[in-house]
Amino acid sequence: MTSSPRSQLIDPSLLDSLLGTASGRFVVDALAECPSTSSVLLERARQGIRSGTLVVADRQTAGRGRRGRSWQSSAEASLTFSLLWRFSGGVSRLAGLSLATGVAVARALVGCGAGGVGLKWPNDILLDEGKAGGILVELESEPGGMLAVIGIGLNLDLPPPGEEPFLYRPAALAQALSPLPDRHQILARLLVELAGVLDLFADGGFGVLRDEWQVHHAWQDRAVRLFDGGRAEREGICLGIDADGALLLRTASGIERCLAGDLTLRAA
Ligand code: BTN
Repeated sequence: MTSSPRSQLIDPSLLDSLLGTASGRFVVDALAECPSTSSVLLERARQGIRSGTLVVADRQTAGRGRRGRSWQSSAEASLTFSLLWRFSGGVSRLAGLSLATGVAVARALVGCGAGGVGLKWPNDILLDEGKAGGILVELESEPGGMLAVIGIGLNLDLPPPGEEPFLYRPAALAQALSPLPDRHQILARLLVELAGVLDLFADGGFGVLRDEWQVHHAWQDRAVRLFDGGRAEREGICLGIDADGALLLRTASGIERCLAGDLTLRAA
């Protein structure tokens, strides 16, 4: 099945048929438009809907990115969805959840046949070093555990240039996969991999997925700059991540563990 009009709304029963044995793990709500799938799902999650609920939208009018940024996407050219997953225990057990999600996305894209799939700390999906997608994980505590709303945005086609300055060169799945599979197939693959990875994560934490993240790490041993709050904070060699998902940076003062920020490459 290849791309017939991409603007067509996700059909939950078609998606269900592609999910195979994983279908019972998801409840799918497909919307033509909403402000943000993550905002909609967070609101519903607080009312107690079940783990595995997915909100996928053709169009977001107020998509949200990391660090308060907006996330621009258009209906035909992207896949935007959020998944609710509940975990037992406290917030400390969820360290590295967004990186674990990156592992699932990488598995799915490779499984769809894409080459050049890379991960960039903390949660960018790269194709041939351009940014093809992003992950936004939001956590809240609830009685007996935590809920996570895992928001994923993927470019199917390149976004139009010029509307907002991009922090990174954009990339799109259509550049890596020709012909581009139907959106249902891509989404089904993502969900199957997410279920598997989230099970592993719930049992063993991010430590059991760290090596796989490292395999996809696009900027291993590269010279980078870490920005936090808009000013250049630290420069060093990117050594990858530890078992909690913190970035390890070799700087002039030694190896530093970094918990937040935006990474850019330094000119060679
Ligand atoms: C980033 O790279 O800054 C993360 C972007 C995450 C965007 C997705 S699109 C689906 C979900 N809904 C949102 O409003 N944001 C996430």
